[in-house]
Amino acid sequence: MARTGMQSISAPIRPPAEKHAAGNCAHADACREFAFTPADFERVRSLIYERAGISLSEQKQEMVYSRLARRLRALGHASYRDYLDRLEADAHSPEWQEFINALTTNLTAFFREAHHFEILAQRLAAWSGRRRVRIWCTASSTGEEPYSLAMTLVEAYASWSPPAEIIATDLDTTVLATAERGVYAMERLEKVAPERVRRFFLKGTGANTGRAKVRAELRALVSFQRLNLLDPAWPVTGAFDAIFCRNVLIYFDKPTQRRIMERFRPLLAADGLLFVGHSEGLYHCTDLFRSLGKTVYERTRAGWGATEARA
Ligand SMILES: C[S@@+](CC[C@H](N)C(=O)[O-])C[C@H]1O[C@@H](n2cnc3c(N)ncnc32)[C@H](O)[C@@H]1O
Repeated sequence: MARTGMQSISAPIRPPAEKHAAGNCAHADACREFAFTPADFERVRSLIYERAGISLSEQKQEMVYSRLARRLRALGHASYRDYLDRLEADAHSPEWQEFINALTTNLTAFFREAHHFEILAQRLAAWSGRRRVRIWCTASSTGEEPYSLAMTLVEAYASWSPPAEIIATDLDTTVLATAERGVYAMERLEKVAPERVRRFFLKGTGANTGRAKVRAELRALVSFQRLNLLDPAWPVTGAFDAIFCRNVLIYFDKPTQRRIMERFRPLLAADGLLFVGHSEGLYHCTDLFRSLGKTVYERTRAGWGATEARA
């Protein structure tokens, strides 16, 4: 059937986790295809922390095993130790990107935490006519979030070419490629209002049945690029009117979150907004950002802490 081969394009996140030959095995270790010791897990933990800032908890052993198993298979290694030795032997090996791609979690959805898009739309009305609006979507995953921002802009300005741009970045090159294609399984659109689906997507026919593609006008509003929030230099320049950094801070420890927030602050316009995920309150950064509620923040006034009343 025509859908064959489409799943790789429209797969929302990643291939399903590799399965162990669980069958009748009493212990996972006995059933494993590859040797994986606690020391290997610790090595993975420290490498992904160094490279991506991602803090993996003790409970993530099975997740690490299943996500990296595909890489061992592809490269013909029999143990995690061999794989990690090979990885560490060359600090610039392209395998590092594969390693990172395998370990990121890319869960996302169109209009996830929908209230944020409503708040942005209200603010756009206030900004309108004043300047070209710039939005940075800092962990854009497979693209649903930046395209939701693009839809919000088109609606707010009642124009297919609003005076605005969205820069969408992510560390994971696989999800960026999916985002750039802008092709999604129809199931990904189930919670999007039918009016928006009609207006902003082209339904696939023939070989593309079951998929939808974002309209070229929407695609043109977003530019995608790889950016690691941990890198010492970011290939973006401010000022941004809005920074979306949602559902990625949870993977970082508090000092890493703090360093990123310190770097966001000067990139955000004085009247700009910072959006974080629903479980990512910036309680440890109140000198930098002031909460407006609903995990939306604005810059504190220079030199003043969170309790300072605004002029
Ligand atoms: C759970 S998704 C969140 C997607 C979207 N922001 C949302 O809220 O729906 C987290 C994303 O953060 C990205 N990520 C993880 N570590 C990162 C880093 N150090 N720099 C940039 N992106 C990172 C992952 O690749 C993944 O796509």
